Amino acid sequence: MNRGRRTRKTDAVRKMVRETRISPDSLIYPIFLQEGDDIKAHIDAMPGQYRYSPDRVREIIDDCLGKGVNKVLLFGIPAHKDPVGTQAYDHEAIVQSGIRKIKEEYGEEVYIITDVCMCEYTDHGHCGILNDREVDNDLTLPYLAKIALSHVEAGADMVAPSDMMDGRIGTIRSALDEAGYISTPIMSYAAKYASAFYGPFRDAADSAPSFGDRRSYQMDYHNRREAVKESIFDVSEGADILMVKPALSYLDIIREVKNATNLPLAAYSVSGEYSMIKCAGEAGLIDEYKTMCESAVSVFRAGADILITYYAMELADAIRNGDIG
Ligand code: PBG
Repeated sequence: MNRGRRTRKTDAVRKMVRETRISPDSLIYPIFLQEGDDIKAHIDAMPGQYRYSPDRVREIIDDCLGKGVNKVLLFGIPAHKDPVGTQAYDHEAIVQSGIRKIKEEYGEEVYIITDVCMCEYTDHGHCGILNDREVDNDLTLPYLAKIALSHVEAGADMVAPSDMMDGRIGTIRSALDEAGYISTPIMSYAAKYASAFYGPFRDAADSAPSFGDRRSYQMDYHNRREAVKESIFDVSEGADILMVKPALSYLDIIREVKNATNLPLAAYSVSGEYSMIKCAGEAGLIDEYKTMCESAVSVFRAGADILITYYAMELADAIRNGDIG
């Protein structure tokens, strides 16, 4: 008889034969920075998550560091929006001043990654510059380069473009290189799907498009090969890390991209994934902690090396407690 149960008999042997190992080093926590002073505002669509003004961001960063999470992904919520998203690249804008504030206080202790996109900064809520009612790809590229460069000049350690314009990785790489930032890596949201799971984020970041949707630039969720195509484009343009987003409904994509490329691979467990587990847990329908653990491990098992998650701190605890990892 084949007795598969032999290696499942005790905790010791189960842990010995475990195929997926994870560490807090692989976790990234997203932070929403809001322009203004003395702000810690609850995000109702994401229970337990907050927007912080730069003067209070240390509260959440201290929590992260206390849990062993030292990598953050910054998003900005500006006070003013306009058609070309000026507040995305202004040197005094919310993300740029937030980066300076964090770096002044923590230096190398915190690794800062920034989301490079326009949708939080444009009054129409699209991820690029409009030409009539179309998002104009090539017109948007220089703006993305300016945004990325302004983040790096302010002290960002890595930039993560999430706009899904064609050619953005190459454009941003050239801009960084020309300015002398040859060692600053780019994490590309390479396979980003047009997803309903971003719903709570758009509430959090006030970035829902005012008309239409994002399907002319984000990917159609019926497609798998296209994710490989997009990833290979980004590899050829100079990406350092690839990302698949969302995570849970896209485990097949994570595995596919992992097999087809040899860059480190990140997955973004997005706002809707967080809120589903959180709210079902709060309603007493599922065990929040165990569901969080199981879904995070599934993303690594699928092939991710890095996980961006609103549960980063709770997962770091779960790893330390020996419940996963
Ligand atoms: C910006 C961006 C979005 C997310 C990350 N970067 C929103 C979107 O594309 O609409 C979603 C993150 C989340 O849902 O947690 N373009």
